[in-house]
Amino acid sequence: MLSWLPARVVALRAKVFEKVNGDNAITFPNDRVGPDRFQELYSHPAANGRSRGAGLSDLFWYWLSPGPEVHQEHLEAGPRYDDVARATRTFLAGSSDALSAAATRCTAKVLDEVLGGRVTAVRLRDLMMPVWAEYFYELVFGEPCPRLARDLIVGHATDVVNSLKCTSLRHPARRDRLTRYLKVRLADVRHPMPETLSEAEQVHYLQGTYFNTAVVQMAEAMAHLLLALAQHPEAAQRVDDDRYFAHVLDETFRLYPLFGIAHRITTADIELDEQTSFPAGSVLCFSYPAYHATGYDNPHEFDPGRWENTAARNEHHIPFGVAANRPCPAWRLSPIVMRACAREVLHRVALHSSVTHTRSLPSRGPCLLVRNGPVPRKRLALMRVRDRWEDVWRSVVQLVLGTAMVLHAHRLRPAGRYFDTHDTQGCPVRH
Ligand code: HEM
Repeated sequence: MLSWLPARVVALRAKVFEKVNGDNAITFPNDRVGPDRFQELYSHPAANGRSRGAGLSDLFWYWLSPGPEVHQEHLEAGPRYDDVARATRTFLAGSSDALSAAATRCTAKVLDEVLGGRVTAVRLRDLMMPVWAEYFYELVFGEPCPRLARDLIVGHATDVVNSLKCTSLRHPARRDRLTRYLKVRLADVRHPMPETLSEAEQVHYLQGTYFNTAVVQMAEAMAHLLLALAQHPEAAQRVDDDRYFAHVLDETFRLYPLFGIAHRITTADIELDEQTSFPAGSVLCFSYPAYHATGYDNPHEFDPGRWENTAARNEHHIPFGVAANRPCPAWRLSPIVMRACAREVLHRVALHSSVTHTRSLPSRGPCLLVRNGPVPRKRLALMRVRDRWEDVWRSVVQLVLGTAMVLHAHRLRPAGRYFDTHDTQGCPVRH
């Protein structure tokens, strides 16, 4: 079978992206800055440019539109960023009991709809999308999510993540439908919106942060967690043990970090030591999977037990980024709600899957949800064969669509064009 093809195609895709973006990007850890100094460089105050000055930004802005120019992740440091980050912190705050209860409720609602006979076949990411659409709708509007809104959110978030993974092209019209809905609902949000943004920008802020990033990241994170639990039943059996569950989560995040690469553009020269310096304008790419694979015995093995005698802060482990340089604002919320969601799932069904578990998981995590009775071995064998074949043709699709999108983004230059006419705080400039 053509099992070597997907890896070759992924490597080729990375080359195409690099060539078209045209940045002289440097990926860490490497020979110059190894894992021991990775966090030092990542945390450097001058490693703080986000969008301006990198071809890579055009691609991310293209994928994450509409409104990439007001997405917290892309905003440059300054008062605008501070204002937006403050608003996000307010939305994501809450007692852990309240956050958990909402996650349990939303999971139960979706499972009630999905679970049919004894065995239900799902793709875990698709199963989780509506859960988090419901969840973040409640978080933003403080009321249960109507079906229409859920469908718009799932349609939007799915379109974003599929295009990011190059399994599909993007569909701006699908995304615009959610924008129009949120415009009408802007007055109903339950926390103050960032004051430095216009109303149109506030709509994009809601859409980008809660109905794209939050939904996509949580659906992906839960797909990884549930797939790991499906393939390690001994870990699934201990889901009610808080301490052990924290280790399972750390190990899942270590092996399957949601970020492949996070990039920064240096806003001043960086001199780490006499031999190691980077001029202003360098594009630094921080590879999470590579960093997470250093400093551990058998790093490619899933072993929650490795966390028994150590803490994440002592290891090469940064699933939510580095504290000194714009870490994830959902660092606290995410593990709390993931635990609640995983428990609700595992209290109702046993999980079984025979697919390959990769970090980017373009398969969306095929899995069988089994209510009771024996393991459906035949269906698992079939699932394995189908997964291997899907992997082969999907990798070719990803190469073709990825190349098309990278060229399209290069032509449109969304970030480049914005900074031709705006400064880093969004004010119009004349050249
Ligand atoms: C398990 C789930 C999640 C993981 C593993 C995760 C991971 C990360 C990581 C690694 C970063 C930093 C990347 C960098 O250094 O550039 C980040 C940034 C960010 N995340 Fe998350 N994330 C998760 C869930 C969420 C959720 C639920 C939200 C909801 C709002 C969110 C919103 C953001 C935002 C806005 C940023 C940009 C922060 C900034 O630049 O100030 N994330 N996330």
